[in-house]
Amino acid sequence: MGMKSNNMTIIGLQWGDEGKGKIVDALTGSFNYVVRYCGGANAGHTVTVGDEKYSMHLVPSGILRKGVHNVIGNGVVVDPGTLLEEIDLLRQRGVVVTGDNLHLSNRAHLVMAYHKAADRLGEVKLSPGRRIGTTARGIGPCYSDKANRFTAIRVCDLYNPGWEEKLLAVIAEKNAVFAAIYGAEPIDFDGVRAELKAQVPQLAPYVCDTRVMLAEAMAGGKRILFEGAQGSLLDVDHGTYPFVTSSAVTACGVPAGAGVPPSAVGYVLGVLKAYCTRVGAGPLPTELDNDLGQRIRDRGREYGTTTGRPRRCGWFDAVAARYAVDLSGVDELAVVLLDVLGTMGELKICTSYKCDGKDLAAFDPDAARLQRVQCVYESLPGWDEDISTCTGYDQLPSAARAYVERLEVLLDRPVGLVSVGPGRAQTIIRKTSLKGLLQN
Ligand code: GDP
Ligand code: IMO
Ligand code: MG
Repeated sequence: MGMKSNNMTIIGLQWGDEGKGKIVDALTGSFNYVVRYCGGANAGHTVTVGDEKYSMHLVPSGILRKGVHNVIGNGVVVDPGTLLEEIDLLRQRGVVVTGDNLHLSNRAHLVMAYHKAADRLGEVKLSPGRRIGTTARGIGPCYSDKANRFTAIRVCDLYNPGWEEKLLAVIAEKNAVFAAIYGAEPIDFDGVRAELKAQVPQLAPYVCDTRVMLAEAMAGGKRILFEGAQGSLLDVDHGTYPFVTSSAVTACGVPAGAGVPPSAVGYVLGVLKAYCTRVGAGPLPTELDNDLGQRIRDRGREYGTTTGRPRRCGWFDAVAARYAVDLSGVDELAVVLLDVLGTMGELKICTSYKCDGKDLAAFDPDAARLQRVQCVYESLPGWDEDISTCTGYDQLPSAARAYVERLEVLLDRPVGLVSVGPGRAQTIIRKTSLKGLLQN
């Protein structure tokens, strides 16, 4: 691994669901801390261990490894009910989750029932063409309140007197809006208060100043892995706005969202699907709205981890991926779900866009413009072998290797890891920089 620091940041370079959870789990054995810094329960990170499949939403993907500290950073918006349920589910399956291995920032903002209601009501009110297709987890409304300040409630507020009065005032304001704009039923203050009151002691063991915790960890030479959520093209500033999520999801979001200096970001590993998917609305230039797209969806089981929605599928978009690589200063790439492209026949990669008959020099995330671009493709030979049992790069068919190596050239970064299935063992480490990090 490059020696910028002991740490690593793992981010998605497309529209989310790149397989970040699997890659984080595969590498966490070499880290002491796994830290979420953006998003909330809109994330769905799948980790498969043997026959067991775990879907993580708020709990970091390091939770399955003994001795690893899992941190939900200040930049994450936390639905307390969802978090407690997720912890319960993990415990029921024998996973140890205590205040010793799960830590929640006292500065994280709370997602409340009215955020989820506003998320749903807001979407329904929009004309179909303007809908974002959010996960309805209350993410956008919660980050709105965070920016708005006086309507926000943070974890630390729950441990100071006065939060119930604040909640009462906030709910009164939300209800006035719900009634006036949406003609919706009011949120019941007593119900929300009672639920939260019961949750306060349940959350208490996890709550701490995670910034201090991480600073001390680094001073003691511990290694931190920052776990990105969503994908770079869903970033609130640099994604395909307004069809984005509401937080800074690239590696640039790590310092603010985790409370660490920029130098702590460390080695940046960008995770890429061997093709493209997107859930929800917004431009997907390489979309295959046809049988081929359905075949990718079937082979890749491309249905959302959080909402179960079918994911839109398309060819690999090297123009968009190159932009994402540049945004985060990605050092190395992990190519995931390569096995899905087997038996698909000839494969295509988008290498440039045209708009109004002209070549576009660079990627422009402007959604209206992206909706209109035409993709220029190059073709590569496919393969029919089942590669899901390959354990070394040399075992891959030459066409699969050529595909990976073409991505390296187009993105100008080494592919250090290739994933050929959801399991831990289905992970091929190719470059020495990552060797030694992988543990089964
Ligand atoms: P994340 O949000 O980036 O963590 O990704 P998701 O978990 O939402 O979606 C990735 C899906 O692909 C999950 O169902 C994983 O179990 C699965 N997966 C991960 N890596 C591979 C792989 O190399 N091959 C196949 N076939 N599935 C994979
Ligand atoms: P992981 O971490 C895929 C998408 C939603 C919607 C848009 C805004 O599993 O990769 P939001 O609920 O955040 O306001 O929705 O962003 N989206 C994701 N898509 N993977 C995710 O997370 C996503 N998180 C949000 O589908 O289009
Ligand atoms: Mg996901």
